[in-house]
Amino acid sequence: MWNGRRRSALTVASAAALVAALAACSPTSAAPTGTPEPSTSRPQVDQPTTITTPTPTPTPTPTPAFDKERLSIDDPASLWVVVNKLRPLDPADYQAPDLVNVPVPQVNGSQLRREASDAAAALFAAAADQGLELASQSAYRSYSTQVRVYNGWVNELGQEAADLTSARPGHSEHQTGLAIDIASVPASCSLDQCFGETPHGQWLAENAWRFGFVLRYPAGATSITGYEYEPWHFRYVGKELAAEMRKQGTATLEEFFGLPAAPDYAG
Ligand code: DAL
Ligand code: ZN
Repeated sequence: MWNGRRRSALTVASAAALVAALAACSPTSAAPTGTPEPSTSRPQVDQPTTITTPTPTPTPTPTPAFDKERLSIDDPASLWVVVNKLRPLDPADYQAPDLVNVPVPQVNGSQLRREASDAAAALFAAAADQGLELASQSAYRSYSTQVRVYNGWVNELGQEAADLTSARPGHSEHQTGLAIDIASVPASCSLDQCFGETPHGQWLAENAWRFGFVLRYPAGATSITGYEYEPWHFRYVGKELAAEMRKQGTATLEEFFGLPAAPDYAG
């Protein structure tokens, strides 16, 4: 009992000393005298500081502008070459490289440059998926073949009318290995403007861009392209350019690249 009380007294004394020491060291005890006491009777509890950070507005990633100068429009080997009555191939007897047989049904033997051929095969397969069978009517034509084709039209129609439907040698997209005339199977309205009203022609006009082709001689653009409406003639320019023309609603290569209209040959 005695020991117990003694220990207890010592403990009380030590505790008092400790409280005094702590009070002396406590930062709160260092507060300058005269610091106003809080007026509220509620106990003051440190509140966590709420920092409201404004929700950042996502910065839209700018779509890079289409670079119209990425590929040449002059080089006959460029996918973007623009050939018309004012822009002959240079050299006139240019020979397209990497020609391959197009692996699609053909009315005549058809070759295209490899990339255009692959795209044509994909285009034809997509049409077939919709129940629309297509055939290649004509694709690559050499300078000498174009001589024969053009002269045939002149003999049949006379030069003035022939010039609205057939390019003079050295001025045909077919010589680049990037153009293809497409017909339906079974044949209906082949190489005729009524092809544009067939399900095949309408599907092509609506979907060819997805495969990198553009309908090169649209209706109502003879004063720009120099040729009457040819709903069968598709020109491979690659998916990027075909999609951009579609997006911008630009119908002709001349307008897209800001080139002079080419209704007729110079001189
Ligand atoms: N029918 C197109 C214009 C050509 O002969 O190239
Ligand atoms: Zn053609």
